[in-house]
Amino acid sequence: MKKLEGRVAIVTGSGRGIGRAIATKLADEGARVVVNDLEDAPARETLALLEGSGAEAHAVVGDVAAEDFGDRIVGETVERFGGLDILVNNAGYIWNTTIQNHTDEQWYAMLDVHATAPFRILRAAAPVFRAAAKREAASGAVRCRKVVNISSISGVFGAATQLAYSAAKSAQLGMTKTLAKEWGRYNVTVNCVAFGDIDTRLTRPLEGAPETIDVRGRDLKVGVDRGTQELMTSLTPLGRRGSPEEAAGAVYLFCLPESDFVTGQVLVCSGGFIQ
Ligand SMILES: NC(=O)c1ccc[n+]([C@@H]2O[C@H](COP(=O)([O-])OP(=O)(O)OC[C@H]3O[C@@H](n4cnc5c(N)ncnc54)[C@H](O)[C@@H]3O)[C@@H](O)[C@H]2O)c1
Repeated sequence: MKKLEGRVAIVTGSGRGIGRAIATKLADEGARVVVNDLEDAPARETLALLEGSGAEAHAVVGDVAAEDFGDRIVGETVERFGGLDILVNNAGYIWNTTIQNHTDEQWYAMLDVHATAPFRILRAAAPVFRAAAKREAASGAVRCRKVVNISSISGVFGAATQLAYSAAKSAQLGMTKTLAKEWGRYNVTVNCVAFGDIDTRLTRPLEGAPETIDVRGRDLKVGVDRGTQELMTSLTPLGRRGSPEEAAGAVYLFCLPESDFVTGQVLVCSGGFIQ
């Protein structure tokens, strides 16, 4: 039997990159997965990929930062699959400048996507987790549920040019530790994975014609400058960038039944980079 047979998972921002690799890993291990992305086409591609490999999946397309998004994705998940067992708050992007060039719009955009959106999704999941815990306590068939919040080495150690991003990614650590304390009684573990340099479009060199992300009508270039990326690799003991599949592997550890007694933890998945 597969490790996550019968589990229902939400993975936000799973149209590409790390989110897609997490969705694929969870589906390969038997979970039914709710895919999300800001953009329709990548979300549909991931959905097709999962369904093509025989998994049950569903897509909820939309901006995680929309006010009603938390209720929408949790509501659709429960309606479609009858419950929620694994929640991975992964959706996000970067918007880098030094502090003197940080605008209020930039500050709030980073807080919206990396802190407020996970908060609202977690708040929407609370009654679902609570009801399941009560039901299962009464029947004696107790099951551990899992939340994994996605942070960054920027949120743990800081990173120049990422003031708003790092503040928002630090918020993930606080939410993780607080909810681990609130939700132990519901048998929900809440952990966090902070990534170092993972090879996705988010961290590809900003050269030629970089991809853009449409944030409420504003097109932002996605990527980092090559010098920063080379510096990161030189400071990474494993001497290379991580793959999305390796990143997904770290998230998977917290989704397994073997980690049922681990909660409130931050796992740095960075090839050893700890600056
Ligand atoms: N790649 C890295 O090196 C790295 C390092 C640290 C942390 N992270 C974090 O990992 C997560 C995934 O990043 P990635 O590297 O896979 O990037 P990516 O750009 O490859 O994929 C992110 C996906 O999230 C989607 N997305 C962005 N904003 C969204 C929104 N508001 N609503 C719904 N979907 C949205 C994008 O459309 C995209 O498909 C992010 O939270 C990022 O901050 C990545």
